[in-house]
Amino acid sequence: MSKYETRRPDRPLPIRKSRAFPVHAGKGFLVTGGTGGIGRSIAELLIAQEARVVIADLKQESVDETVEALGGAAGGCFGVVMDVASEAAVAAGVAKSIELLGRVDGLVNSAAIVLHADPMSISRSDWQRQFEINLFGAYDVSRLVAAHMIEHSIPGAIVSIASESGKKGHVESLAYSASKAGMISMTRMLSEALAAYDINVNCVCPGGVATPMLKEVSEAYSEFTAEPAPEIFDKMVAAQLVRHIQPVEVARLTSFLLGDDAMLVRGQAVNADAGETPY
Ligand SMILES: NC(=O)c1ccc[n+]([C@@H]2O[C@H](COP(=O)([O-])OP(=O)(O)OC[C@H]3O[C@@H](n4cnc5c(N)ncnc54)[C@H](O)[C@@H]3O)[C@@H](O)[C@H]2O)c1
Repeated sequence: MSKYETRRPDRPLPIRKSRAFPVHAGKGFLVTGGTGGIGRSIAELLIAQEARVVIADLKQESVDETVEALGGAAGGCFGVVMDVASEAAVAAGVAKSIELLGRVDGLVNSAAIVLHADPMSISRSDWQRQFEINLFGAYDVSRLVAAHMIEHSIPGAIVSIASESGKKGHVESLAYSASKAGMISMTRMLSEALAAYDINVNCVCPGGVATPMLKEVSEAYSEFTAEPAPEIFDKMVAAQLVRHIQPVEVARLTSFLLGDDAMLVRGQAVNADAGETPY
């Protein structure tokens, strides 16, 4: 018998420290939802890796705050107010981002909302809102950024933040889960469509990441179950890590997929859920 006992982890695994290398030096990236938990962390890491980044999000104030916190224009960080649900706002926001960065080498689609409802009575307007932001918005931004890359022969990358919900799904957030499944399928198709232009397209599927969105999810679940939201939040840990996934951990995977070392990973929905989803 082995001297190592097989057991379930009984202590939180530490977040590993990693060093930032200038793997994205000279590159420009656009991050939608860039003031949110995961988007901001991605922007922060890309800047540490010497990229220049435009943060796009809904509110001027939070865009300004985030840009300042990440070092401002002097540190390679810029901001654009953009509602991804509006085609006109996306067109203007992408054009502004190109102007600010000079060129866009990569896009991260992180903007999203999550709505919860009884699976048998989701309103049509909730379906529409959910899809307009999470899927149509991501498509619009991807299409315009890809057109810019093609026009300027930029070998680029697009990484969308999907979710384990797009694979397994949750009945309490059926429309959200369907929008993320759509994002996984869109990723596969765009990967094929854009390969000839040397644009690599992937998505990542996080599990429960400690961000404002997960707090929102625990509050919504609390209404279904009457269990206090903080207790639900605490339970949404990754079993193998015995803790929540941290945004920086999703950022590290996203940064890899945006980079030149990821050429063989194409059209994939890469799990970032610490082993919760086996496919
Ligand atoms: N937190 C998790 O547990 C988790 C798990 C799986 C997937 N995800 C996905 O990760 C991504 C980031 O989520 P997060 O946890 O950082 O959430 P978050 O709520 O902190 O960030 C989402 C950001 O999107 C922005 N946004 C919403 N609607 C927008 C619109 N119409 N136009 C532009 N921006 C808009 C919000 O203002 C916010 O800053 C989302 O796509 C989410 O679905 C999160």
